[in-house]
Amino acid sequence: MTMSRRDFVRSVTAAGASMAMAGRATTASAEGVRKPAADDLNIALIGAGLEGQVLVDSCLKIPGIRFKAICDIWPYKRDAMFNRLTRTHKHDVTAYEDYRELLAQEEDVDAVVIATPDWLHAEHTNACLENGWHVYCEKEMSNSLEKAKSMVHTAKKTGKLLQIGHQRRSNPRYQHGVDRLIHELKLLGRVTHANAQWNRSKSAATDICVNQRIFLSPESLTKYGYDTMSRFLNWRWYKKFGGGPIVDLGSHQIDIFAWVFGCNPKSVIASGGVDFYKHHEWYDNVLCIFEYENEEGTARAFYETLTTSGHGGFSEAFMGEYGTLLISEVPGQGNSAGRQPADAPEWDKYIKTGDLMPIKAPPKKVVTKNVLMDSRVSPGLPKWPLPIELAKPVHQLHLENFFNAIRFGEPLNCPAEVGYETAVAVLACNDAVATNRRIEFKETDFIA
Ligand SMILES: NC(=O)c1ccc[n+]([C@@H]2O[C@H](COP(=O)([O-])OP(=O)(O)OC[C@H]3O[C@@H](n4cnc5c(N)ncnc54)[C@H](O)[C@@H]3O)[C@@H](O)[C@H]2O)c1
Repeated sequence: MTMSRRDFVRSVTAAGASMAMAGRATTASAEGVRKPAADDLNIALIGAGLEGQVLVDSCLKIPGIRFKAICDIWPYKRDAMFNRLTRTHKHDVTAYEDYRELLAQEEDVDAVVIATPDWLHAEHTNACLENGWHVYCEKEMSNSLEKAKSMVHTAKKTGKLLQIGHQRRSNPRYQHGVDRLIHELKLLGRVTHANAQWNRSKSAATDICVNQRIFLSPESLTKYGYDTMSRFLNWRWYKKFGGGPIVDLGSHQIDIFAWVFGCNPKSVIASGGVDFYKHHEWYDNVLCIFEYENEEGTARAFYETLTTSGHGGFSEAFMGEYGTLLISEVPGQGNSAGRQPADAPEWDKYIKTGDLMPIKAPPKKVVTKNVLMDSRVSPGLPKWPLPIELAKPVHQLHLENFFNAIRFGEPLNCPAEVGYETAVAVLACNDAVATNRRIEFKETDFIA
């Protein structure tokens, strides 16, 4: 009996990892030129904007990923992506304006990557899942909890995979920091606090403008639900389309809080406002505090996002009784564990086991001249670099996890249920600002 490529992919998804690995086809010929293999995947892209381009770049690095179709309502982005995929990368791609046409026409697509604005994620994801496609959908899962919930339900109902784009979950540096150093080795002892931020300067937060020559036509804007070209381009700042900086940026890092503390938050308080960019609808700054309760006790996590100052960039610090893990998606902003020498057990053994790197330089001496210091001041922490270096772009790792889940039954690192839990915590920050009250969560709030 012969098996078509699609049958193979279907049977792999159903049968799981062991059978799939055994049935895996050879993907390189004797000459080293890659030939199509049975477990190649046909992919579509919906949303060819900035993040769509990042995801396509990563997909193109993964063997066996073949683009069949792209969809974007904006000819400028659609044409650019079409030309790139067909001319430069020789993929046999059809371009669509409307995703409904894509669904109606394309018969041999296995999975879709969705990178449209947040307000469309549920509509696009649900339709693709119902069409029998696996979905990689960018964060934030949705700007509405009801819509995010519908995505979890559709994934369950259809039995198709739904990965949400919180790519830190597939990043080996984060996996090492959280799973190995914090959870397994208890390097920091009890982690009592987290402190994370994503701050952007004015120039990085300013409105996007494009030449009028490439504007979407007024008819198209209306047809697809956008009132003006400026709102179409700067959708993040408007309530109909997005969730503002706390959702756009904070969702990545607030997601990590739950991973580290091993539970969802109990409550959140927040302050923020439309203080600087008065023409926007969403808060240009939010500062919030989550409370967590795990088997070790209470922990608190502070998160801040500013759009008028890039001070401190973006990183997450996890603070425990023995020291602090400072980590960021960009290693230059955080990639070390700082040890509190008077409190922590010896860490040298972790250099031998390859869990930490030797300290590069001793901490700078605190200058005390003309400054009153007393014995209660903690000295700076000697910093032990993390040993993991990434050989691949961060999004590629998360996409690989998604494709390996389809092909070989590997568990998803951010399935719909986890994406939903994060959405509950993140969207609550905006509610806490709007209502000026502490939001208390029940465990059932996190179940879709
Ligand atoms: N994981 C990450 O690190 C990361 C980084 C940036 C953005 N994102 C997420 O990716 C998504 C896209 O963000 P972006 O920065 O690329 O935005 P963008 O505005 O640059 O791109 C969105 C694209 O979607 C297209 N689009 C809009 N409505 C559409 C429709 N009805 N049908 C088809 N296409 C439509 C637009 O024309 C545009 O090309 C967002 O959800 C965002 O939160 C994730």
